[in-house]
Amino acid sequence: MENYRPRTILSAAITLDGKLATRIGDSKLSSKIDKIRVHKLRSKVDAILVGKRTVEIDDPLLSVRRIKTKNPVRVILDSRGTINTNCRILRTCSKIPTIIAVSKKAGKKDLERLKEFPVTVIVCGKDKVDIKKLLRILKEKKIKNLLIEGGGITNWSFLEENLIDEAIITISPYLLGGSDAPTLVDGNGFSTIAKSTKLKLKNITKMKNEIVLHYKIKQVSPFQSRQPSL
Ligand SMILES: NC(=O)c1ccc[n+]([C@@H]2O[C@H](COP(=O)([O-])OP(=O)(O)OC[C@H]3O[C@@H](n4cnc5c(N)ncnc54)[C@H](OP(=O)(O)O)[C@@H]3O)[C@@H](O)[C@H]2O)c1
Repeated sequence: MENYRPRTILSAAITLDGKLATRIGDSKLSSKIDKIRVHKLRSKVDAILVGKRTVEIDDPLLSVRRIKTKNPVRVILDSRGTINTNCRILRTCSKIPTIIAVSKKAGKKDLERLKEFPVTVIVCGKDKVDIKKLLRILKEKKIKNLLIEGGGITNWSFLEENLIDEAIITISPYLLGGSDAPTLVDGNGFSTIAKSTKLKLKNITKMKNEIVLHYKIKQVSPFQSRQPSL
């Protein structure tokens, strides 16, 4: 069966206690070596996706640095189309292809504002972005491999719908605590372990003071067949 969606890889650096950032959004967890690994991983995919709050808090570029190659497409989940005009994603969108995925909640004014930028706006979903529909559209746009780079709310949206194929997670040597600090997967979460996402450990890489865990997701959605990994 032809896959209707790109192959998805969940990518993040987390602390030993599972946090993506501190409660005030300090997320600089990766070492230099790990950053190089992430840039290599980015260079192998067709697109990178993040949620709107990650853009607001981290102001990332989501580009490939340290390696000479073309940048993957950047995809932002932004239901209302209110992404900050001054963020680095919009400031660099004439150089790096960028998709802003909005829902029908996006107002006329914000859609008009986005038209002033060389970005592709995809409208899908009623309240929040319908990620199943979005993945179908991305596949039609020849995006075969998609890196999901968080944050916790976005990661949950994908896991909830069984839309993750692999997870490559760095465990950074920090303990942050804080019940308001974002974790690898937030949202409602599964009610039982039986319903949770099951993983199979494929590889462990030990770097100086951190480890990188590479998991494959065990269950396969009925809509797709498994694709070979990177
Ligand atoms: N350590 C790491 O590797 C790493 C990586 C990434 C992020 N982070 C950290 O994570 C934190 C942000 O994460 P977060 O969980 O608060 O937010 P997030 O996942 O970055 O963004 C969530 C937002 O995306 C929008 N969205 C639209 N459609 C959605 C959909 N279908 N599913 C999910 N979200 C959708 C929603 O905002 P609208 O309703 O406005 O559209 C939602 O509130 C930051 O502190 C950042 O530093 C860390």
